[in-house]
Amino acid sequence: MQQTLTAKRILLGISGGIAAYKSADLVRRLKERGAEVRVILTDAAQQFITPLTLQAVSGNPVSTSMLDPAAEAAMGHIELAKWADLIVVAPASADVIARLAHGMANDLLTTCVLASAAPVAVAPAMNQQMYNNIATQQNLATLKKHNFHIYGPGAGEQACGDVGYGRMLEPLELVALVEQSIEQSTIKQSVIQTHEQSQVPAGSLAGLRFTITAGPTREALDPVRYLSNHSSGKMGFALAAAAATMGAEVTLISGPVQLATPAGVKRIDVISAQQMHDAALKAAVKSDIFIGCAAVADYRAADVASNKLKKGASNELQLTLIKNPDIIAAVAGLHELRPFTVGFAAETQDVLNYARQKLLKKKLDMICANDVSQPDAGFNSDQNAVTLLWQDGEQTLALQSKTALAASLITLISQHYSPKSTTSEVTK
Ligand code: PMT
Repeated sequence: MQQTLTAKRILLGISGGIAAYKSADLVRRLKERGAEVRVILTDAAQQFITPLTLQAVSGNPVSTSMLDPAAEAAMGHIELAKWADLIVVAPASADVIARLAHGMANDLLTTCVLASAAPVAVAPAMNQQMYNNIATQQNLATLKKHNFHIYGPGAGEQACGDVGYGRMLEPLELVALVEQSIEQSTIKQSVIQTHEQSQVPAGSLAGLRFTITAGPTREALDPVRYLSNHSSGKMGFALAAAAATMGAEVTLISGPVQLATPAGVKRIDVISAQQMHDAALKAAVKSDIFIGCAAVADYRAADVASNKLKKGASNELQLTLIKNPDIIAAVAGLHELRPFTVGFAAETQDVLNYARQKLLKKKLDMICANDVSQPDAGFNSDQNAVTLLWQDGEQTLALQSKTALAASLITLISQHYSPKSTTSEVTK
């Protein structure tokens, strides 16, 4: 199981509704992914599921009342509100949605939401008529305006026999949305922290155009086989998300990966190095900053078989490979309309030395030296560490999430960027 929520603290509020029985499974799924979960049950919720069940699955005491001195002594409501990285109300009844929309604090759950700076998500669950009622719709619109995440609801047959919208999403669907909300809030946090430490004010990248390449390329051998590498695209996508969050206009050129497009980013999907080259050069001339994070295959088959290659009698198969175009060198070699060009160097030995050689040889403005021999860093990991090198300086960014690292890199790159930074100026 991928630990996508490691050490994330989720406060789950359960309100009264038949879907409350699914909440125990939701707790289990969140914990499987590494999250720590604490639960608040409203009075009505306790008619549907017991505190004991949720204590057993969450491994933590369950909070039910603000007026219980023993519970308050263990973890008071303000402490609980501050503890959470994300508050999820699932199921969220029409009543609890109305109370949250009006900022009420008349039980432990609504008080914690009001007292928390954490993002809040609600998963509506109610009869379809109640859901469609103008009052509920207005309350949900108010929550959206206040930046609450709204998870669902789904449509289908309801416990009361009605058919329509109002079913709580299934636990696994909720978990996927929790992962997205956590990812968004981590990016925001990283951007805020990075801005606090730097001179770059938030939103200051408005008007700057980035082109970023990400992921692997695939070089076909025949209709069913290809040469490729282990790049997941996570580093490049995190860079695109960070730049977009800071207000930049971002074009992301991606090889084949299994990742959702970050909000506000224009994505162009490609497969081969040649396709990435063509898309990158077209986008680069319309960009201020180009970042080559993709793991581009250096070689491709000289001839791509039009039919599936057959096993021959010999134990050996000879492939003739030819060099792919060097995309980033072509971008850095543009005369007019050359963007500020930043590369990555994935190395397993003598990392800084090889990275400096690539900085010079490819005529880049900056390069991220990436030691991909380290466990927990580089290819297909959620974390990474790099040393950013330029002509007369360097800065090391220690092992951290790719999301946090991306925010620091985008800030550093934009601090060094100057619109007239041609290679000769940067390297003089
Ligand atoms: O995708 P992830 O799983 O998150 O992993 C991230 C990463 C390890 C892929 C990323 O951090 C990284 O290091 N990317 C560069 C990988 C690479 O191919 O490095 P390189 O040293 O072979 O290439 C040097 C530079 O030239 C890179 O900017 C690369 O994009 C570029 N290049 C390489 C070959 C080529 N034909 N054209 C290029 O533009």
